[in-house]
Amino acid sequence: METKTDTSFDTMFQQDVFDGLTAHPKFLYSKYIYDKKGDALFQEIMAMPEYYLTECEYEILKTHSEEIVDLFQDKETGFDLIELGAGDGKKTKVLLRELVTQEIDVTYKPIDISQNAIESLTTALTAEFPSLEVAPERGEYFKVLERLKSFTDRKKVIMVLGSNIGNLLHPKAIDFLTQLQESLAEGDLLFMGFDQKKNPQTILDAYNDPTGITEAFNKNLLHRINTELGADFEVEKFTHWEVYDPENGTAKSFLVATEAMKVDIDALDLSVTFDPWETIHTEISQKYDDKVVSWLAEESGLRIRTSYTDAKMYYKNYVFQKGN
Ligand code: AVI
Repeated sequence: METKTDTSFDTMFQQDVFDGLTAHPKFLYSKYIYDKKGDALFQEIMAMPEYYLTECEYEILKTHSEEIVDLFQDKETGFDLIELGAGDGKKTKVLLRELVTQEIDVTYKPIDISQNAIESLTTALTAEFPSLEVAPERGEYFKVLERLKSFTDRKKVIMVLGSNIGNLLHPKAIDFLTQLQESLAEGDLLFMGFDQKKNPQTILDAYNDPTGITEAFNKNLLHRINTELGADFEVEKFTHWEVYDPENGTAKSFLVATEAMKVDIDALDLSVTFDPWETIHTEISQKYDDKVVSWLAEESGLRIRTSYTDAKMYYKNYVFQKGN
């Protein structure tokens, strides 16, 4: 049984863990998977053969880079390419190479919350493309975009790769897209990756690899709670479980308790009990089709201008502009 009654905490992490583990059924937010270890595990996931998303998006950018760059550029004013959550930039480099080769007037603005990520990406890009103007912005996406809203003398292209939107339920995805739409001026573009519905087995395999990397990634949530909140989760007594519903396109990850347990979380002054086979829902990875993306766009005040897909049609990058 939960013992804590006073529910005001110092950090959102504490509050969210409290709310999630005292809810029925239990849940935790996937954004908390990403500490240093979680980031490294996600890099490993992106290199796994089962995790087709990275390779498909890379193929799309490679195959269509000329066309994409042509759509992005503005011959009169030049443009700013603003990327949210650039990571190591492997996929983005394909477009940057094309921009540099064609000597297009562009400033690349990667935005990330992590100073470390921003610095290493900028150093790598400056070495690889000495003529490219890189102007990184550190901070939360929407705070930075708010600042950039006032930059109206040049075209803006906002780019979000990796189907990151899939980690949001539809209402939250609409909030996210609406905020992006509000950062766009007439003529600006939003370029975004959406993983598509496909053979359900292919999707299950991508989130349930035999080497256990995804399992370790999912369980990193519990390790974080142990180290940062002084908890005593016996992580090995939880199993990673993935389900995919082909009707609504939602893949869901769970951690399932394999026996009855009591977990103390010191920083929350909380004791949580688990029944055998009780679940913690940890992540959603939404899969899309054109109908759903059109609906999301319409709800967010956006219009689909065009889209690009890979040879297997597993993944799509859509180009949006303001207006229905
Ligand atoms: C970051 N995000 C889009 C990944 C996904 O596919 O949902 C995170 C991930 N979870 C398990 N594998 C990868």
